[in-house]
Amino acid sequence: MKRRNFIQKAAGTLVMVTGAVAVVSYLRQFFPRRAGEKRRIALGDPRRFPVDTYTFLQDHNLYVYRDHEGIRAVSAVCTHLGCILERSTEGFTCPCHGSCYNDQGEVLSGPAPADLSWYEVNRSADGRIVVDPGRSVGADHKYLIS
Ligand code: FES
Repeated sequence: MKRRNFIQKAAGTLVMVTGAVAVVSYLRQFFPRRAGEKRRIALGDPRRFPVDTYTFLQDHNLYVYRDHEGIRAVSAVCTHLGCILERSTEGFTCPCHGSCYNDQGEVLSGPAPADLSWYEVNRSADGRIVVDPGRSVGADHKYLIS
């Protein structure tokens, strides 16, 4: 094979592979990944969360709130550019650009464009209490501890 032919074939293959990757990436947006059992976050014993307190789960960028009735879970990711929120007297504050949210995850001041996401807390088939980041719920959703 001549050098010119090799370069033409290599370039053609590269263009085809790049095109295939672009097409697959484009099509993936129409098929969002379904939250599966693997993505769920097992919370363990609910008593490990202090009552009337937001506990930060660093590995999952999540705050878990427990009261005397049950457990709720809210994203700790700022809706502006994704920085991790810190607790404040009003609720949550972003250390990057100063957005503030109340305890319900509602934006008090920007630049955050949207409220925080609350996630479903439920009991899995094997009896564990889990957070499902793939399922958004209202801020009033609470898994009741019996
Ligand atoms: S990333 Fe939170 S305000 Fe910009």
